[in-house]
Amino acid sequence: MTRLQSALAAFLLATTALNPAAAVLAADADAADDSAADWRPHKPIVLAQSGGFQIGGKILHNPRNPNLTLSCDHGYVEYFRPWNPRRTSLVMWHSSSTQVWQNRWDGGEGFKDKFLRRDYPVYLWDGPRVGRANWGCNTTFYVPSYQDQANFAAWNFGPSYPHWWPGVQFPTRNQGAWEQATSARYQEFDTRDNVELHANAAAIAADSGKLGRRIVYLTNSAGGLRAQLTAIKSNTTHIRGMVTYESIGYVFPDNIGIRDSHFGGFGPIVVPLEDFKKLARLTAIQFVWGDHRDETYPYVRQSQLAAELINKYGGNAEVLFLAKDAGLRGSTHIAFADMDNDKVAGLLDRFLWRNGLDEY
Ligand SMILES: *[C@@H]1O[C@H](CO)[C@@H](O)[C@H](O)[C@H]1NC(C)=O
Ligand SMILES: *[C@@H]1O[C@H](CO)[C@@H](O)[C@H](O)[C@H]1NC(C)=O
Ligand SMILES: *[C@@H]1O[C@H](CO)[C@@H](O)[C@H](O)[C@H]1NC(C)=O
Repeated sequence: MTRLQSALAAFLLATTALNPAAAVLAADADAADDSAADWRPHKPIVLAQSGGFQIGGKILHNPRNPNLTLSCDHGYVEYFRPWNPRRTSLVMWHSSSTQVWQNRWDGGEGFKDKFLRRDYPVYLWDGPRVGRANWGCNTTFYVPSYQDQANFAAWNFGPSYPHWWPGVQFPTRNQGAWEQATSARYQEFDTRDNVELHANAAAIAADSGKLGRRIVYLTNSAGGLRAQLTAIKSNTTHIRGMVTYESIGYVFPDNIGIRDSHFGGFGPIVVPLEDFKKLARLTAIQFVWGDHRDETYPYVRQSQLAAELINKYGGNAEVLFLAKDAGLRGSTHIAFADMDNDKVAGLLDRFLWRNGLDEY
């Protein structure tokens, strides 16, 4: 905690040191226009192929009998390739639940199917040790921790369980929907080692070409930090962009006095300036925030500073507030699963189009 506080004090200094006028752009003023949202909503999903594979990881040899091995710490990818694909792949990354990409809170259509209808190849990613990649190289611990009520607040359904935010984009009277939401999580191991482990495997996946050669990451929560680090570790130009929904954690360069958190799983991660500049080479980055995350929220400040720095080095990053900039109210931490996720998808259409990432 003290580490975070001192890091934040450093941000405040760093922010005032930079020119605030050079700051972050919001999305187009007319982004609330729904026309993109109902764009071809009933187009059938026609796939050329779907499947999955493991990637990255290592093989451990048993010290007592090197003939015995364990293949571990790989990531898992499930893929869906449309019959007539666009060139950009959407890699959907949540730090603890691929399910949130699959359905809206009420079981309605999630981003996976919405963007398959739009002909984007879709990849669902489980990093090492989580989800379908849970054969780890280290001992891991799962301690049942009575976390449902904490999930409610962490996913910003309301200030505390069971008090929903007024107008929240969740089917609040549907007990089944709440039970589905909270049980969709899996263990996510939010430590720095784990963030590195995930980014290493994801960089190997990105560089392999098996996720396509023009990748846009869609991330939620702590997945955003992992994706930023992945773009830095990658040695190819395959990663073209990222849209992070409420990224908890940011990467910063080592020339502005921000201290690395070292152990925590939520950043800040400080990298050499030359590495940080890799983020400025991406075509476009958008850090998205839902309701009840005003500019005093530490990670909002971090996202603004990160965008400012990326732009300072010639990049193209922006912060989008769904309410203030796009008129979407009641968003949770996971806006792409919200009841108005058609509109959230419309904003993503616009982002991909504006940045030339929507080509066939
Ligand atoms: C490992 O395999 C090699 C080659 O098959 C064999 O010679 C050796 O005895 C094995 N070692 C053990 C500990 O089983
Ligand atoms: C694996 O365990 C070792 C020994 O406890 C530790 O030093 C290392 O950081 C762990 N690695 C990861 C990726 O968790
Ligand atoms: C990128 O290249 C460096 C230097 O050769 C290497 O250490 C690293 O493992 C590579 N990263 C990936 C994702 O292959």
